[in-house]
Amino acid sequence: MSVGMSWLVSKGLRIAIDGPSGSGKGTIAQLIGEELALPVLDTGLLYRYLGWRVAEEGVSLDDEKAVLQVIPAAINAMDWRAEGIFFAQNDCTSLLRSEDAGSLASKVAAMPDVRAALLDVQREIAKLGCVMDGRDIGTVVLPDAEGKFFLTASQRERSRRRWSQLKTKGEDVDLEQVSDELQARDARDMERDCAPLEKAVDAIRIDSTTMRMDDVVERILNVLERRKLITKKA
Ligand code: DC
Repeated sequence: MSVGMSWLVSKGLRIAIDGPSGSGKGTIAQLIGEELALPVLDTGLLYRYLGWRVAEEGVSLDDEKAVLQVIPAAINAMDWRAEGIFFAQNDCTSLLRSEDAGSLASKVAAMPDVRAALLDVQREIAKLGCVMDGRDIGTVVLPDAEGKFFLTASQRERSRRRWSQLKTKGEDVDLEQVSDELQARDARDMERDCAPLEKAVDAIRIDSTTMRMDDVVERILNVLERRKLITKKA
């Protein structure tokens, strides 16, 4: 057992949180990670990073072989920490959160060989216990994770959340445009052949459309507690 703020956490506990853009999985993963003192790993950031490196190297996204060749050097230069991704010692996390980086990410993420090449990186870093969020964590990356959750929310609510996030960051975007991009990205993520976004059969589905984030966190903690993966400190 390791020790969180109010919880004893079983050693090496891995919690997989999957869901579409705007489902709240990033926020929930952060909150659970803080509560249980576990590192939080956002795998979307890894695909965003790779999409960005591919663009920076001037490689065409139509050329999967060339994209694959970018990976070894990109991984070498990367430091993936709980607070984000660093490239050559520089924190590039906020740059990777842009809509452009998201769109590049979803294109490289549709390439089967790219996904295969990133599997070990993700499994290695998850080994000591973590909260990992993405699209295929419960199905492919960590199918044996001790806790698996699938977050959803209505398309309208997800667009609104994404729009509000971008506005807060000072990006000049309109809701219609965000909604169209979100739908296009969802379609790409769900319809691709390799590791599409889907709920693992043994994951617990939580629809957060009308829930407060705190209530979602509470529901997840309850499940983990019932399964004796975490125990309240006396
Ligand atoms: O969660 P996000 O918006 O940062 O993810 C960016 C893109 O990466 C998204 O279009 C889907 C893709 N992705 C994926 O295919 N598999 C993951 N485990 C995480 C993200």
